[in-house]
Order: sequence, then C-alpha cells, then structure tokens
Amino acid sequence: MIFRQLFDQTSGTYSYLLASRRGGEALIIDPVLEKVDRYLSLVRELDLKLVKAVDTHMHADHITGLGALRDKTHCITVMGEQTKADVVSMRLADGEQLTIEGLALDVIYTPGHTDDSYSFIMPDRVFTGDTLLIRGTGRTDFQNGDPRAQYESIFNKLLRLPESTLVFPAHDYKGDTVSTIGEEKAFNPRLQVKSVDQYVELMNNLNLPNPKMMDVAVPANLRQGLAQDEIARRGWAVTAQQAMGLAGQSNVALIDLRERSEREKHGVIPGSLHAPYPDLQENIRAGGMLHELASATGKRILFYCAFGERSAMAVRAAQDAGIASACHIHGGVDAWRRANGCVSVSSR
Ligand SMILES: [Fe+2]
Repeated sequence: MIFRQLFDQTSGTYSYLLASRRGGEALIIDPVLEKVDRYLSLVRELDLKLVKAVDTHMHADHITGLGALRDKTHCITVMGEQTKADVVSMRLADGEQLTIEGLALDVIYTPGHTDDSYSFIMPDRVFTGDTLLIRGTGRTDFQNGDPRAQYESIFNKLLRLPESTLVFPAHDYKGDTVSTIGEEKAFNPRLQVKSVDQYVELMNNLNLPNPKMMDVAVPANLRQGLAQDEIARRGWAVTAQQAMGLAGQSNVALIDLRERSEREKHGVIPGSLHAPYPDLQENIRAGGMLHELASATGKRILFYCAFGERSAMAVRAAQDAGIASACHIHGGVDAWRRANGCVSVSSR
C-alpha cells in the first residue's frame, strides 16, 4: 500500500494520500486548499490517478481542497450524508464502504465534533478526523457539536477497535503524528472520565476561542459546487422536470454514472444504462461505448449521478470528446426524486 501523511502547518491539518499500488487509483482524506499543487505533484511522482477526495467533516479552520482537486483532476468529492456542503459528488452513510481500486475503508458515523463527522477504518488503522485526536478530542462547541454524541462515538465505536489500531487524526498542534487506540485509552486526558456526564461537563468548560479561519472557511466549505452552474449556462443541463419528459423517449440514452452501491441504495431511473464515472474516459473516446452509441444511433446522451456533480464533469468531458448531444440532469437523482420522478430498485 502507498500511504502518505501530509501536513499543513498553517492549520495544523494532516491529509492522507492512499493507494494500493504505483500506477493505480488513489484517494485523499482531508486535503487543504493551499496544498493542492503539492498533492498533485506527489500524485504525479507516484504515478497515481486521484479518483476520490474525501472530507471527514465540514472544517472550520481551513478551506477544503475538495473543489480544487475536483476541478483539476475530475475526481469524485465525498463526504457523509449529513453534510451541508451544497454539492458533494458522493455521500456516504454509516456502515458503507469507501472504495478505490484495491482498497476498501469501512465508513463509520462518529458525530460529536460536528454532526457530519465520519471516521474511516482499515484493518490496521483508523482515520478519526477531529473526533479523536492524539491526547485530545475535537471541540464540540460549534457546528452542531455535541459532547454527548462525541462520547458515544469515541467510547462505543472508536475505542472498541483493537488496541493496536493506529490512530491518524485530522489535526495535531503538538507535533505528534500517530497514536494507537490502546495509547489513547490509557493516556488521553479527555478520556479519563467516569461517565458521559463528566465528559459533557469537561467539554462544555473548555472556553476555547473560535478558530481564526472560521468565518472564511465555513462559508467557503459550504459552497463547493460551482461546476453545475457553468454547465447550465452553456445549455448542457436539463431540470429533473424536463428529464422526466425525455426519459421515455427513444432518441434519448440515460446514463447512470454512480457506483453500484449507490444504485442499490437509492434506486435507478428506469431504462437507464450503467456506465460508472471512473470508466468515463474510456467510454467517451472515439471507439468507446458511449461515443459509438451517440454516433451510431444519434441518441442524445443524458448523464445523471447522485447530485449532478459527476454528471456535470462528464458532460464537459463528453463535449470535449466530440459528443455534441451530451447533457445532464441538474441536481442528479436527488433532484429527480424531489420532483417525484420514479426510481426502481437496481438488480445489482
Ligand atoms: Fe474540525
């Protein structure tokens, strides 16, 4: 496995680059905007293809690199389903997996620091975001933080992992880089409490100043979804309502870009074909499945995904590849469902 822990000094943020092999797919956890060029040169140097950029939660102390990485690499942006970020390509829920080629991380919902906080587990390590820090825990006094929920997340989820599990947090301000579940159980001063009430009392009396970047970072992190507006301006988007009129027509090919797990969980628009986003380049180049479908049948290619982000990127790429009829459903299946469009359960 390729594993890199990267540090942003200004905000004390750790970001993690993961891949199963040189030349393969990679994902990055908690990237920082100012460091995006550094991540991308490392990705190039290791001959990786960045396919997912993930935030453990909505950060208040730095601007996320998710939007910039998406714009530069067309990767999928990922957060938990509770996120209030306007558009994230893919939303995960407790019990699901975060996957790339050769790697699968178990997703657990660990609210408390914020109400959209998640941790990601591998057999030997856990990425804890700001839920569990090294000899500390993430503050719970803003962004719907809740010390009681955090106690549950830490004591009933994270501390139940094997003691040897490596702990990789999203921040450190003292120079520590890694810990273990066993060490934190024994030595984390915030965890030496006798009850949930004692923990709540402790967390409610920290009296911390707000992060310096908070007023800038939170609004910026809420607005990452700029790609769709530009696609709509170019006339390459249809509303969910318009899509319903087009869906049954014989001259329209509806293309679902989501992953299998998303199709199983949220259902599919009847009659659509499955062409997952990671295979897009192969499908839209001359000779590719979608390129041939469009040119041989004259069908209009109508992409959709979960929220319209991946499909907006797909439209742009397909247009660049010469598929002039390519368009997408603005807002994705989410908008389709809200407009009372029907979905059927995917058989696989
Ligand atoms: Fe945080």
